[in-house]
Amino acid sequence: MDPMNKPLLRVLRGEPVWPPPIWLMRQAGRYLPEYRAIRAQAADFIALCTNPALACEVTLQPIRRFRFDAAILFSDILILPWALGQGLAYKEGEGPVLPPLRDAAGIAALDPARVAAAVAPVMQTVRLVRAGLEAEGFAATTLIGFAGAPFTVACYMVEGHGSRDFAAVRGLAYGDPALFARLIDTLTAATVEYLAMQADAGAEVLMLFDTWAGILPPSQFREYVIEPAARIVRALRVRCPDVPIIAFPRLAGLMLGEFVRATGVDAVGVDASTDMAVAAEIVGPSVVLQGNLDPLALVAGGQALENGVRAILPVMRGRPFVFNLGHGIVPQTPIEHVTRLTELVRAG
Ligand code: CP3
Repeated sequence: MDPMNKPLLRVLRGEPVWPPPIWLMRQAGRYLPEYRAIRAQAADFIALCTNPALACEVTLQPIRRFRFDAAILFSDILILPWALGQGLAYKEGEGPVLPPLRDAAGIAALDPARVAAAVAPVMQTVRLVRAGLEAEGFAATTLIGFAGAPFTVACYMVEGHGSRDFAAVRGLAYGDPALFARLIDTLTAATVEYLAMQADAGAEVLMLFDTWAGILPPSQFREYVIEPAARIVRALRVRCPDVPIIAFPRLAGLMLGEFVRATGVDAVGVDASTDMAVAAEIVGPSVVLQGNLDPLALVAGGQALENGVRAILPVMRGRPFVFNLGHGIVPQTPIEHVTRLTELVRAG
């Protein structure tokens, strides 16, 4: 297939393709037995992310099962802080753990010069996935590369682990705004390099995950979410002008309109708390929407799943739209429900 005709790329150029392309955030993961089998072969999660053959294999697994319109590079948003030199481990049942970064010395120790060599295996994964999609006949499937947005990545770097309110990060942003801005600037510059490298290696779309954007009040949302995203988009438009950019400022709510106008992203991911009709009104007709089925409706299946899909599809018909979840798929998701979802969406 002419790459220009891949459904996801057509939508991201503004075409209202129908039925819409579909992929799911975290589509490679523990709900798949074949993922768990590969995961058990790797020493730990970082070893999996930095083993190109295994990372390529798990990237392709959900495509083989569900023929999704996009494959998303298998990696993690915290590979960038790890590449900058911060310690990182993934503890079973606990999620990521990092030595908390709270002072000027810690931030000054982050070393952008380490990144290219550290992420070289990730770039090799990108190349293997492009070749694998081609070799296995998935000519219509688009490869998405990604990074965490500076604020969300800073959340884990400063807090040292996941949190409900990221109080240490919020405290640093209020208590020493100049220092926090230095961390955001370092991450913004490193993220541009990291994403441009992925595009050079063959990623056809780039996505920026800002999972914790919605915990900030408007003034800080502008400073730590909108500003860095705008700078990243501006730099990438020069480095890889033909690669569309999707952002996911989760729980942005009423700030969504300002976000899309100020950043110039091609598409925006919408979380499950936002009505898609309202999102369409806020962003206007030229910005592509992606979302927003509640991941727990997918776990429930049956009528809950059908109602969830029916609350989205008719509203999005006629505009450029990418079907997705409102957040990542969860490990307890029954595989048959994912199959059913692809049938419902592909029936339009
Ligand atoms: O399939 C895909 O979407 C591609 C791979 C991907 C992963 N993480 C793999 C992963 C992507 C795009 C991410 C993004 C990511 N990682 C985000 C942003 C999106 C979101 O979900 O909010 C965040 C905040 C992280 C940080 C992170 N990584 C956490 C909090 C955890 C632990 C929670 C969990 O689900 O275990 C991870 C680990 C992680 N990243 C796993 C996977 C498949 C599970 C690790 C395992 O297999 O043991």
